[in-house]
Amino acid sequence: MNLNKQLIDKLIEITSYAAIACHKHIGKNDKLIADKAATDAMRKNLNKLDINGTVVIGEGELDKAPMLYIGEKLGTGNGPEIDIAVDPLEGTNFAAKNLPGALSVMSISLKGNLFNAPETYMDKIAVGNDVPNDATDLDFSIEKNIKNIADAKNKDITKLTACLLDRPRHKKIIEKLKELKVNLKLISDGDVSGALLVTDKKHNIDIFLGIGGGPEGVLAACALDAYNCNFQGRFLFEKAEDKKRALQMGIEDLNKKYNLNDIVKGESIFCATGITSGDLVSGVKKIKDKYITETFVTKKNSVVNVIKKEVPIT
Ligand code: FBP
Repeated sequence: MNLNKQLIDKLIEITSYAAIACHKHIGKNDKLIADKAATDAMRKNLNKLDINGTVVIGEGELDKAPMLYIGEKLGTGNGPEIDIAVDPLEGTNFAAKNLPGALSVMSISLKGNLFNAPETYMDKIAVGNDVPNDATDLDFSIEKNIKNIADAKNKDITKLTACLLDRPRHKKIIEKLKELKVNLKLISDGDVSGALLVTDKKHNIDIFLGIGGGPEGVLAACALDAYNCNFQGRFLFEKAEDKKRALQMGIEDLNKKYNLNDIVKGESIFCATGITSGDLVSGVKKIKDKYITETFVTKKNSVVNVIKKEVPIT
């Protein structure tokens, strides 16, 4: 079975409906309610799809329900077996505080093609497709990664820009980048979008790096794959319970570095609909009797697009 155009259209509809459901909670300073609205809409609409779906990347485990949890079955059950990665509201703070960059995100693949991971942090590095595969590595020093990118792009180091989450845990990396005179884009949240800024020169980001959510890493990897970009991630299993869960899920080497093709195989579809406007897409707009949404869509080897959708207000 192919992941066909009809299915892509359905997925755009699903993330659009989740974004619209979240829209009325923008700026209410309540991230749980905003998240729940997006999650409920995503679940409801995924359950109408003729697929036999399983959440492989979700918002925690069954005991943390009602969020979409790892292992949850979705769809009518009549259709292909599909792996689903979801983040109904990526950037809960952005939505709650009415800041740019909130997205509703999902990606899917045929069963077995998406990495199945517990919800832990991940150390990540992403660069564009103009940087060779072996030029960057999580185990290289910051200096070596930066120098290799500058060489590959034939750019001076001081003309490079690195994007990373503004977190105390990144203090040393930030200091090193400053010492190298690399320009910084420090984001307060939203590292799916942050990682995707390496896909297009218009964003002027040469490297995305640092520690963020593992689920967000897997989701970003699906879109990066469509652009033939480079991505590497290493899950950080810090707590004993995370280690135990990883082993139960079949992850034997807890320190393994995962490349793109370890995380996503074959075809996958990625959709991210804007809730509030950000670098990738505009947020939900309510105009007279309809909502207008913008969705960033990728499918490896065929689609990379921003799709506008009109949804009548009923
Ligand atoms: P939420 O939407 O779940 O709030 O996540 C936002 C986010 O910034 C992610 O994009 C990122 O991967 C993660 O949080 C980083 O986690 P932390 O805030 O703990 O550093």
